[in-house]
Amino acid sequence: MREIIEPFRIKSVEPIRFTTVEERRRILEEAHFNPFLIHADDILIDLLTDSGTSAMSAQQWGAMMVGDESYAGSKSYFRFEQTVQDITGLRHIIPVHQGRAAERLLFSLIGGPDKHIPNNNHFDTTRANIEYSGATADDLVIDEATNLDSTHPFKGNLDDKKLKAYIEEHSPNRIPAIMLTVTNNAGGGQPVSMANIRQVSQIAREFGIPFFLDACRFAENAYFIKLREPGYEHRTPREIAQEMFSYCDGATMSAKKDAFGNIGGFLALNDDSLAERARNLLILTEGFLTYGGLAGRDLEALAVGLEEVLDEHYLEYRLACTRYLGDKMNEAGIAIVQPPGGHAVYLDAKRFYPHIPPHQYPGQRLVVELFAVGGIRSVEIGSVMFGKRDPETGLESPAKNELVRLALPRRVYTQSHVNYVAEVIREAHAHRDAATGFRITKQPQFLRHFTAHFEPLPN
Ligand code: F0G
Repeated sequence: MREIIEPFRIKSVEPIRFTTVEERRRILEEAHFNPFLIHADDILIDLLTDSGTSAMSAQQWGAMMVGDESYAGSKSYFRFEQTVQDITGLRHIIPVHQGRAAERLLFSLIGGPDKHIPNNNHFDTTRANIEYSGATADDLVIDEATNLDSTHPFKGNLDDKKLKAYIEEHSPNRIPAIMLTVTNNAGGGQPVSMANIRQVSQIAREFGIPFFLDACRFAENAYFIKLREPGYEHRTPREIAQEMFSYCDGATMSAKKDAFGNIGGFLALNDDSLAERARNLLILTEGFLTYGGLAGRDLEALAVGLEEVLDEHYLEYRLACTRYLGDKMNEAGIAIVQPPGGHAVYLDAKRFYPHIPPHQYPGQRLVVELFAVGGIRSVEIGSVMFGKRDPETGLESPAKNELVRLALPRRVYTQSHVNYVAEVIREAHAHRDAATGFRITKQPQFLRHFTAHFEPLPN
């Protein structure tokens, strides 16, 4: 097979800033060893997230110039609506400023005390919006997903047996929705198979429960299906995406991922009455029906992005990027979540630093080292983010895994950037024995990872 190349040429570039080791040490001290508190200008390669960080195409920038900024009935909205309807087949398309706004609209209408909402794995904002409504959010992903080394091709699948038992336990009338996140971000960016989407939708239908997709990375999921699921090799990504959506009653979407948007999202629904109530709420907090908190130019850019993301050459390249970085880690004997996900590679910090116990945050050490050694920003997904702290005793129970996510922004970094990232990780690995853990010196009550302060522990 020929080399898979970047399916674009670069027309506009942005400089990245090099710093010295001494500068980076000072920057880390000033940021209290929390990369969220580092100025983006001090980062050489930013792998914090793939959300809102994509490079837009010349076509997208061009479309922005024709954005219609009318308050009501904007032509840009109708273009956006048409594009989303063509891909999803869903009737009502409600624009919002980002994914969590779609979640807030949906769950403030269907959530509430005594309600239960299952998913393969809820993303944090989804869980938070469900819980904020008073409902309970549960994860029913297949057991293989908890084995970091399992190379199951669809580790994002939802377990149908767990789902049936769950429906029996809580009764269908207390389950206002069943969700599937494609790809499963909280579970390592792993895809869900078409067979699983079909099966979950059949179960939902059988019990009269609406079925929703969290569709942030639907195109990456569609391409995984093409690569890995027999019967789909000759289907186009658009056809596969259309089939995925054909099984659902609605979808939430952060267009900051697979629509190449810097901002944006939508809630798509088939239910007329639910859509009407969602639109009334939209007007109350987001904006009028035809802009929902976005500018007309944003809607134009998203409409173009949603077409571009389904290009085969793009998706082939996109999945090759994470696979390439994953292969480099495998060759170096550095443990990652297998197989590499669609948008990110997850390093296993527990095995990187076996001598640092979870309550001394090995993932935080790895995140700090990647910046110290090479100016790379990544994010800890372990006990800093998910460790549960008893507010009375201050004692903490660790997270299940200690991971570090390296999320690749779309169309932003080239192969040599990825080679550099792999080199920096290998260098940190070579010096792993000398690394120590951290102590948290300051933390807020909720979502502490964003603002906590850390202090390195002595050797
Ligand atoms: N659902 C999933 C699966 C996500 O990954 C995200 C965001 C959201 C919903 C919320 O969308 O940020 O537009 O409000 N994920 C980002 C990330 C933040 O870094 O993985 P949003």
